[in-house]
Amino acid sequence: MEQTYVMVKPDGVQRGLVGEIISRIEKRGLKIVALRMNVISEATAKEHYSEHAAKPFFPGLVGFITSGPSVSMVVEGKDAIRVMRAINGATNPVDAAPGTIRGDFALDVGRNVVHASDSPEAAAREIAIHFKDSEIGNYSRID
Ligand code: CMP
Repeated sequence: MEQTYVMVKPDGVQRGLVGEIISRIEKRGLKIVALRMNVISEATAKEHYSEHAAKPFFPGLVGFITSGPSVSMVVEGKDAIRVMRAINGATNPVDAAPGTIRGDFALDVGRNVVHASDSPEAAAREIAIHFKDSEIGNYSRID
């Protein structure tokens, strides 16, 4: 089983899309094994998006991500990283297919509603930034 990090960004929370997004993840068969709503700190946002630190949009991206509550999740399942990227759709909503979250709910790359890790290395790094090991659940003990 693979795990990935997923965030409903402040625009998705403010627009009341959290339930819709969680529903799409659950209906697809992925499992949410950790979940939190909080206002991400500037330090955490800069660490999360450190690969974009030199990009012109970086200050605006950090300002936006810290502007209000967001929802962080660890999502688990077979090929969870690729499946979650497919559920979200292309980073730029202009290129996102209808039926994807961004294709259905977004227009602007800077307000694209959701984030998901793009590789196993990114997933491990981002999960560790946002969650302690002890905060991540394990369904196998329930069955
Ligand atoms: P995300 O998947 O969270 O990963 C990096 C984010 O940077 C991306 O989604 C976009 O929201 C944001 N981003 C990428 N390009 C731009 C841009 N040109 N202007 C503003 N934000 C951008």
